[in-house]
Amino acid sequence: MKASTTSLWITSLILMLASAAVNSCPPSDRAALLAFKAALHEPYLGIFNSWKGIDCCHKWYGISCDPLTKRVADINLRGESEDPIFENPHKTGYMNGTISPSICKLQRLSSIIIADWKGISGTIPKCITSLPYLRILDLIGNQISGEIPFDIGKLTRLSVLNIADNRITGRMPRSIANLSSLMHLDLRNNRISGTIPINFGKLRMLSRALLSGNRIYGKIPYTISYIYRLSDLDLSLNRISGSIPASIGKMAVLATLNLDGNNITGSIPVTLLNSSISILNLSRNAIEGNIPNVFGPRSYFTVIDLSYNKLKGAIPKSIASASYIGHLDLSHNHLCGAIPAGSWFDHLEASSFVYNDCLCGKPLKPC
Ligand SMILES: *[C@@H]1O[C@H](CO)[C@@H](O)[C@H](O)[C@H]1NC(C)=O
Ligand SMILES: *[C@@H]1O[C@H](CO)[C@@H](O)[C@H](O)[C@H]1NC(C)=O
Ligand SMILES: *[C@@H]1O[C@H](CO)[C@@H](O)[C@H](O)[C@H]1NC(C)=O
Ligand SMILES: *[C@@H]1O[C@H](CO)[C@@H](O)[C@H](O)[C@H]1NC(C)=O
Ligand SMILES: *[C@@H]1O[C@H](CO)[C@@H](O)[C@H](O)[C@H]1NC(C)=O
Repeated sequence: MKASTTSLWITSLILMLASAAVNSCPPSDRAALLAFKAALHEPYLGIFNSWKGIDCCHKWYGISCDPLTKRVADINLRGESEDPIFENPHKTGYMNGTISPSICKLQRLSSIIIADWKGISGTIPKCITSLPYLRILDLIGNQISGEIPFDIGKLTRLSVLNIADNRITGRMPRSIANLSSLMHLDLRNNRISGTIPINFGKLRMLSRALLSGNRIYGKIPYTISYIYRLSDLDLSLNRISGSIPASIGKMAVLATLNLDGNNITGSIPVTLLNSSISILNLSRNAIEGNIPNVFGPRSYFTVIDLSYNKLKGAIPKSIASASYIGHLDLSHNHLCGAIPAGSWFDHLEASSFVYNDCLCGKPLKPC
């Protein structure tokens, strides 16, 4: 009798302790956050002043927890924000230091947003690939260096990978193609080299692939056209060579294609000008041949920039039948012949046509 009372008492004590623990964040999560904070230095806003007390789920700036488990779920620290802590809405934050590997102890993390602090350096902690619930990794606008962890592909729930505007080097790891939930990939303005992995087309959920401003070389893999949700492909300002795969023009929802500032050769695939694309920038490459004569009343472009290439022949007559072309730049090529006349085409300025071999007619000199 006495023994069972004691065990009942012990059981209820355990339950009490357990429920108390569930009402605030686990001490191990709190310790991991404090170690994370210790590696950073934020001199102006004092965001970390709120990181005090036992319960890291309660009013710690930028931290939110799962309401049931009380495990830390989100780190959301933005150096450019509408948050009232910034007082003046256009004031921007600054932080330096590094991202401590201690965040990998926060095993339930679903998002890590440490964006636009300008001064955070060091590398992306390798252990980040062991966070099974991670959906968002956004480290844009810092000075992070080193490589993308080679086994990033383990993050099968990751839907946003944004490490733009940093100093990332190395190649895109092959495993990146295993990010089967990835929708938004932004690696712009880093120092990433190597080629686009041949299996990149496995990223079937991808809708934006922004790789501009790196040192990526090699060909555009034709498998990119298997990504049927892709709406925005930006490979501009790299060292890409080879020709444009014709299959890109057959992609169902591709709306923006920026390939400018590379070393692309070959001719413009016919499909590209008769496609869902409305922003097309192929400027500053080594593209040859004629401009395909495939425009029609269904052609609707916000931008066609083909300037600084090696295009020859005449401007196709069908271009005047396009329903809309907002910005056209054919300058700095080897085009020749009469500039087509008609409807919207008559409003274009000379700058759209200058520096060609022998174009003539309005708005240039009469033929
Ligand atoms: C961060 O910047 C401060 C000056 O604002 C400097 O004293 C400190 O050494 C820097 N810390 C790191 C880790 O770079
Ligand atoms: C991608 O995932 C598959 C299946 O889990 C695995 O066998 C393969 O090694 C992974 N590829 C890379 C490059 O990590
Ligand atoms: C096209 O790309 C070139 C080279 O990167 C750039 O200078 C130009 O502004 C772009 N054109 C448009 C219309 O954005
Ligand atoms: C562009 O490609 C051509 C032919 O492959 C090569 O000779 C040239 O060096 C390349 N230019 C640049 C800037 O990479
Ligand atoms: C343009 O594409 C449509 C289908 O998307 C096709 O029916 C049409 O023939 C093509 N036009 C030209 C000139 O290739």
